[in-house]
Amino acid sequence: AYVNTKVILDKANKEGYGVGAFNVNNLEFIHAIIEAGVEKKSPVIIQTSQGALKYAGDGDVYRGARLFVKMVREFADSVEIPVALNLDHGSKLENIMACIQAGYSSVMIDASHSPLEENIAITKDIVRIAHAANVSVEAELGQLAGIEDDVVAEHSVLVDPNEAKRFVEETKVDFLAPAIGTSHGAFKFKGTAKLDFDRLKEVKELTKIPLVLHGASSVVQEMVKIAEANGADFGGSKGVPSDILKETVKYGINKVNTDTDLRMAYIAGLREFLNNNPKEFDPRKYFATAKEYTKKVIMDRMEVLDSVGKI
Ligand code: G3H
Ligand code: 13P
Ligand code: ZN
Repeated sequence: AYVNTKVILDKANKEGYGVGAFNVNNLEFIHAIIEAGVEKKSPVIIQTSQGALKYAGDGDVYRGARLFVKMVREFADSVEIPVALNLDHGSKLENIMACIQAGYSSVMIDASHSPLEENIAITKDIVRIAHAANVSVEAELGQLAGIEDDVVAEHSVLVDPNEAKRFVEETKVDFLAPAIGTSHGAFKFKGTAKLDFDRLKEVKELTKIPLVLHGASSVVQEMVKIAEANGADFGGSKGVPSDILKETVKYGINKVNTDTDLRMAYIAGLREFLNNNPKEFDPRKYFATAKEYTKKVIMDRMEVLDSVGKI
């Protein structure tokens, strides 16, 4: 069933588990996520970046948003598990409006690079518009190092728990993404992975709402190996290990954003298949292994986050 993201995350918050939010740009990843959710009886959140809207709409973000709603709803309506569709890192009003109008389950307003007062004002406006359309809202506080669409931050700025409390009270936002030391992409840590758990605990205590971990991919070594055995070069890649993810869930993370892990599983499967089948040129065949590997990574994640059976 197609649901408001709040339905999925309020339950996860109450019962203390995490739900994967998986980024997609096309049909094949949607298949992998829905199939994984159905097999594991897990709720799923499917999300698209602003770049994904543009890509799917072939340049037209309104068309992209409508296409994603149609595809996701079509599958969601035919399965028992709760399925939500979220706009990831919305920073342009046009993209946010396109998704609200098209019927997304939630939108993220990412004004985390603006000063606090501005972030509060912008988020408040989006919350008012989105709530009137039964769409829930995620916002971010602090900054992740790395690349998000066209925004590049050199260093991370961790969330201030007292600001988080004020932010949630004033904006009435539904979910909050506190920066606690992760970053986007495949190269998250030079040495050992370290996150600020104390800060996370404090934010949870002061806000009590569902919290979101961005940049949460684990960079699954098995997939890195397969990809590299078939021509890829992912040297130095490193993600958030499963045991650390489990800890963040214990301390209040309920939505776990995952893009890189899916991309890596997909490319591992695609490269392996193409290498082993030089005569094949039917996309339905060469996308099949890619989809299976992606689905496997998604199902493993559902186990790690403890969302299995939570429907
Ligand atoms: O936040 C980053 C997500 O992985 C989306 O990335 O802008 O390349 O679609 P993208
Ligand atoms: P990863 O790059 O770790 O998959 O993070 C994805 C993300 O935070 C999307 O918003
Ligand atoms: Zn993110």
